[in-house]
Amino acid sequence: MTSPPKTGNFDEKPPLNVEEYDKSIRLFCGAYEEMFKLTHCYLRAILPKQARVLIVGAGTGMEISELAPLNPGWSFCGVDPSANMLALARKKILEKNLACEIELRKGYVDNLKEEEVFDAATCILVMHFLKDDGAKLELLESISKRLKSGAPFVLIDGFGEPGSMDFEEIKVAWKNYPIISGVPGEIVENIFNEVIMKTVQFVPEARIMELLETAGFTRVSKYFSGFLYGGWISYKK
Ligand SMILES: C[S@@+](CC[C@H](N)C(=O)[O-])C[C@H]1O[C@@H](n2cnc3c(N)ncnc32)[C@H](O)[C@@H]1O
Repeated sequence: MTSPPKTGNFDEKPPLNVEEYDKSIRLFCGAYEEMFKLTHCYLRAILPKQARVLIVGAGTGMEISELAPLNPGWSFCGVDPSANMLALARKKILEKNLACEIELRKGYVDNLKEEEVFDAATCILVMHFLKDDGAKLELLESISKRLKSGAPFVLIDGFGEPGSMDFEEIKVAWKNYPIISGVPGEIVENIFNEVIMKTVQFVPEARIMELLETAGFTRVSKYFSGFLYGGWISYKK
């Protein structure tokens, strides 16, 4: 296995308590469930009834839980370096008793054989843990290499320019999301300062476009935006 990323290591230094991930992510990531539903709508519009989908950063199994029940002809390969996150995904998937072929692999996209090609891929709330020092591009390139030409690729990631007026204004609005859901203000402040702002490697949206283009994706379109994260669908050239 290649070396783990410096941030976003959910086994050694989890940004959120793994056991409470499903609860916390819904409190801190506004429209979390909706963004999976929107992704589902797009993939159903694009993919045929039989398709093999790569889920990068499968985490606790949200993508598979959303996509598998209504698309029994799709098969899934979820990769994630975190054994703890995957253990929760396995449990959830077993409980749902899904008919699809589902494989969860501990590791990185790079650990998959290059001959293994997919009809689609998702990378949701993962790339923003990587620095823009070549690591973000490397991840996108490793995904691109494993997609068939014309395959859709869904990226949901943090974006923006910390310190800019827009970013700081949106951050205030974003903090209100957990606050109005009942999380005490001092806890929210601490999570933003010590977790979100320290682990998420925000880059401007234009840089995300550039990275996608460089990694071999085309026809990029934004289908979702919530506070300082967005969703883009693009296609492997
Ligand atoms: C915030 S969670 C997102 C999980 C899931 N996609 C979701 O939206 O709920 C980030 C996940 O990405 C995984 N991860 C971190 N770095 C990764 C990498 N380089 N490749 C694949 N997964 C990675 C973490 O282990 C973690 O499970």
